[in-house]
Amino acid sequence: MVELVKVLVFGDTVGSPGRKACCALIPKLRDENEVDFVVVNGENLAHGSSLTKDTAAELFSHGVDVITTGDHVFRKKEALPVIENHPNVLRPINYPKGTPGRGFALCTTRNGIKIAVINVLGRVFLQALDCPFETMESVLTLIRSQAKIILVDFHAEATSEKVAMGWFLDGRVSAVYGTHTHIQTADETILPEGTAYITELGMCGPYRSVIGRRIDQVVHRFRTQMPGPMDVAEEDARISGALIEIEAESGRARAIRRIHERLP
Ligand SMILES: [Fe+2]
Ligand SMILES: [Fe+2]
Repeated sequence: MVELVKVLVFGDTVGSPGRKACCALIPKLRDENEVDFVVVNGENLAHGSSLTKDTAAELFSHGVDVITTGDHVFRKKEALPVIENHPNVLRPINYPKGTPGRGFALCTTRNGIKIAVINVLGRVFLQALDCPFETMESVLTLIRSQAKIILVDFHAEATSEKVAMGWFLDGRVSAVYGTHTHIQTADETILPEGTAYITELGMCGPYRSVIGRRIDQVVHRFRTQMPGPMDVAEEDARISGALIEIEAESGRARAIRRIHERLP
């Protein structure tokens, strides 16, 4: 019988409503689906931007194994020691040489199965980092001998760049999923060579908002083009992500299902 590994992955978690939803719903989803491994994107974890020791610890104590991030990772100075010291808190791998932290993690599940998680940032409408495609090419030569199961959080703005990365890595990693734009897409699929793919996992956070921020403040900003506060919204907390089933032996994905749940 083929041994299947079940992995839950979640998109950008925004502020305390996002953390609350994750802490309430992830342990439940983990139990219900007999999940082996959980990855959450935490780039908006602390007050909507970056993360801290305590906010990361909150996720780790509620069934999360690895926290990925994105373009907002270094916005709080409190993030620096966490990024430097915690092997399972990642920053995008394609930052310049010498940037603190690491862009991939090598983990082992309770059943002894090795899983690698790689976090990479897109370049379209974002910072001009190293090419995400070339970076993936070189990191894969390093990682492929160490883990059959490889998950890639591609934190990117442009749908086209995300889709291109999915095709580029098809058959070479177990899953490529997008984060950063906060709105879940309905294109989950298993690509022909066995890689699970979805353009965007969606946000864990308050949905009565503009991608996590107060509606009135964001509308005001669009209308006036003036800088102003954009506080984290509070109502209608949900989590958004995907459940992926992967063959332990080959690293090929068998199934991907979107997850989108409200706090009761
Ligand atoms: Fe985000
Ligand atoms: Fe982002």
